[in-house]
Amino acid sequence: MENFVIHGGHELFGEVNISGAKNAAVAIIPAALLSNDVVRIENIPNISDVSFIIQILDRMGAGIKMINSNTIEIDSRPVTFQSVPYELASHFRASYYLIGVMLGRFRRAEVAMPGGCDFGVRPIDQHIKGFEMLGAKVETINGMVCANADKLVGTSIYMDVVSVGATMNVMLAAVLARGLTIIENAAKEPHIVDLANFLNSMGANVSGAGTDVIKIRGVEKLHGCTYSIIPDQIEAGTYMVAAATCGGDVLVKNVIPKHLESISAKLEETGAEIIEYDDAVRVTRFKPLTRCNVKTMPYPGFPTDMQPLMAVLLSVANGTSILSESVWDNRFQYVGQLLRMGADIQVDGKIAVIEGVRELTGVTVKAMDLRAGAAMVIAGLIGRGQTTVEDIHYIDRGYENICEKFASLGADIRRVEIKDSETAVSDAG
Ligand code: EPU
Repeated sequence: MENFVIHGGHELFGEVNISGAKNAAVAIIPAALLSNDVVRIENIPNISDVSFIIQILDRMGAGIKMINSNTIEIDSRPVTFQSVPYELASHFRASYYLIGVMLGRFRRAEVAMPGGCDFGVRPIDQHIKGFEMLGAKVETINGMVCANADKLVGTSIYMDVVSVGATMNVMLAAVLARGLTIIENAAKEPHIVDLANFLNSMGANVSGAGTDVIKIRGVEKLHGCTYSIIPDQIEAGTYMVAAATCGGDVLVKNVIPKHLESISAKLEETGAEIIEYDDAVRVTRFKPLTRCNVKTMPYPGFPTDMQPLMAVLLSVANGTSILSESVWDNRFQYVGQLLRMGADIQVDGKIAVIEGVRELTGVTVKAMDLRAGAAMVIAGLIGRGQTTVEDIHYIDRGYENICEKFASLGADIRRVEIKDSETAVSDAG
């Protein structure tokens, strides 16, 4: 087991390179199976969620060649139908994309209900509704989602909620269906456009991605391609918030500034200055932080995945801020950790009222989930004294080399191996 040990109080200066987008990669990598050919994918983030999905593809018989740590070649010709058991699917949320992929390729899927961060109930009813409307029979048997279809036929599907996962999963199942599928009330996140571009590079006919109506005209088959994944919006936002919170001058490189507009706008409200370049944003902050209100929304709104990170910034901003979560039912579980560091936050359902305090104090905190974990790292970077962040395996799910990247900006952060005996003592507390 490992922890991060951080000594706070340093401003951040320098440049940081952003990796490929996790939430695009975890859909695009399994989508390669739809091609029945060889696909090369570049700019893959080197994170544990990606390792989990590659392990599953390997178990299914795909030829996997790591060209380097960020480029993979997937030969999906040898893949045969397999069910994806709980031991593999439960590590991460995106295992549900294997349902759409296998349904598309084999007209049959058996995948254990997905795992992932705990934000309350995380239903997949819109995914299932989409598959059923395409002609599949879907049942959940002993925790496995089992889908079968004699044929998949395009139709018009209205999503009752704006769902990233359901939009992408239906796209995956529909590319090889017969006729035209129209997804209405589709999600518009950058990774949806990226998946559509990837599918089109393999010969699919997907249009409208990035708007709320996506049209997928089914094709007979797909072919191999080479594709590069977009930069990670949330990883970029994490370093932007860190620079604004700690103060300093950081160039966040290899990004698409358009994807960061909602984050830039909020950081400017708090007193940071943001300069956009073609593929980088520079964040400087030398004056005191001021309060602002933030409400999370589907893209192009302020991303829910940035919410815990923004909470840390607002914890040390002058004045009272209101942070409203409108995507997930229960995404403030990390607040207790910030209270232990001296933050003044009151949560009522999906709203947090944050009273800015002068400083946070370093203590031992837990990464409650991926983004909450990254938020604890930023809290440690501004906290007085030493902060130890436990359960950092959550952070490794989605951040490539977070420790090295922050250290290169001047942060005092180390990854420390913990012996089992030490864990037993801290667990007893
Ligand atoms: N929802 C339903 N029914 C469904 C699907 C979703 O009611 O069938 C609801 C959810 O309960 C939630 C809302 O719709 O209230 C949005 O959920 P969505 O389906 O968009 O989320 P997701 O696809 O499961 C992805 C990201 C999350 C990110 C959300 C929202 C992946 C693997 N995960 O989850 O990312 O929070 O979109 O943007 O793409 C993260 O990266 O840390 C992370 C949690």
